Amino acid sequence: MEQSTKYKNFINKEERTLDESKEKILERMKERKSIRDYTDQKISEEDLRLILECGRFAPSGENAQPWRFIVVRDQKSKDFLAQISKNGSGRRFTGEFLGQKMQERFAGLEDEEKKKKIFKKLTSGNVSAFVNQADLILIVCGRKDVWDTPYDCSAAIENILLAVSDLKLGCCWVIAPCIDIRDEIRIKEYFNIPDELKVISIFPIGYPARIPHVRPRIPLEKLVYKEKYGNFYYNVEEGK
Ligand SMILES: Cc1cc2nc3c(=O)[nH]c(=O)nc-3n(C[C@H](O)[C@H](O)[C@H](O)COP(=O)(O)O)c2cc1C
Repeated sequence: MEQSTKYKNFINKEERTLDESKEKILERMKERKSIRDYTDQKISEEDLRLILECGRFAPSGENAQPWRFIVVRDQKSKDFLAQISKNGSGRRFTGEFLGQKMQERFAGLEDEEKKKKIFKKLTSGNVSAFVNQADLILIVCGRKDVWDTPYDCSAAIENILLAVSDLKLGCCWVIAPCIDIRDEIRIKEYFNIPDELKVISIFPIGYPARIPHVRPRIPLEKLVYKEKYGNFYYNVEEGK
């Protein structure tokens, strides 16, 4: 009798712990945000190693593990990446502005002055120039001769982003300097990256100076379909 009560207590405790940790799963995802302002505080070798270990435990097709990481702490090199990021973002957003995509994206914003300011900031590329403020920049490369490299590297990157966030550090996925082949070539030359690797993205990592709000997300009601595309899984009215 005593034993079964003991067992029941154990089960209750386990169930409670599971319920508590279920709530924490989503909280953990929301806790991760793109950080673009950093303090001067340095990241310890221990924390860096833990972040990289989390990256390498990501899944990959055929377990190919095609990711390669370069840790950049030299200020001149970080400035070089900041300049390339600024140029890359400037080109991308200028293209979006000229192609009217940007106007579509901000169509809901009625304050014309504010809109003008946003367009100016985006097309200048300055939005991505912050990367040199971080203590370090991680360059993530992937082997070109592996089938699933972009997917594999993205899995490693998400592990890294979550590890950084769990450590109360800050990071931002920055693709701006890698999307234009000419910038990729510049990065490869500067960092001696061999041709058999593709530069996937760069990741400034540091202590956050400012933590932004959670950015809006499209509700599940507009994202999930039942059995076939078009038949919403959740009640659309609830997601409004
Ligand atoms: C593939 C990818 C590329 C990104 N590239 C950039 C970038 O070049 N510059 C930048 O400032 N943020 C970049 N971001 C960050 C996104 O802007 C950010 O994840 C998004 O706005 C959602 O905000 P959150 O990360 O705070 O949740 C990128 C994110 C992803 C996933």
